[in-house]
Amino acid sequence: MSTKPAPVTTKPVLVASADTTISRRGFFMKLGILFNGVAATLVAVPIVGFLLSAITRGRGNGSLSWVQLGKVADFPEGETRLATFRNPYVMPSDGQTADTACWVRRIAGEQFQVFAINCAHLGCPVRWFQQSGLFMCPCHGGAYYSDGSRASGPPERGLFEYPYKVENGLISIQAGELPTPGAAIAALTGEKPSCA
Ligand code: FES
Repeated sequence: MSTKPAPVTTKPVLVASADTTISRRGFFMKLGILFNGVAATLVAVPIVGFLLSAITRGRGNGSLSWVQLGKVADFPEGETRLATFRNPYVMPSDGQTADTACWVRRIAGEQFQVFAINCAHLGCPVRWFQQSGLFMCPCHGGAYYSDGSRASGPPERGLFEYPYKVENGLISIQAGELPTPGAAIAALTGEKPSCA
């Protein structure tokens, strides 16, 4: 009686399956790491940009550069006139909104005061009335004297002033920063920031 040799069992398929499983796991792990890296980068870029903006602001965009208002001769002595300038701190999409108005008071010679047009209360544009010698705010009745100091109404302080200079018969202001009691203006003027 002949005995039939037992069939030789080989498991090449199982080995291949194990190899495939390991490789698939590794693939998905790498894919997960890649996605996490991309997501972390997308989150980090605006945060880093925001943190660096405090350093880079005012260097490349010219926000603290001087902008010309016009000839000194265009502002008669003893008068206050409206002037406009292009805010140097602009984006291409800002369009006409970057055109900003201000009040220019020529006291005498090259002595000026340049006031922000915005009321120190909630920012409405103030108007100058030559007859009464007052800046009046149409929103809540705030009033300021000709030198910009507070006269009455809700504003707790006078009008904000731009730093200015006169060169070659032209008056320029440093207008990139909106004049507020913040640190940047305090640094420019050397004054202690107020809490108005
Ligand atoms: Fe001018 Fe309020 S905004 S008084």
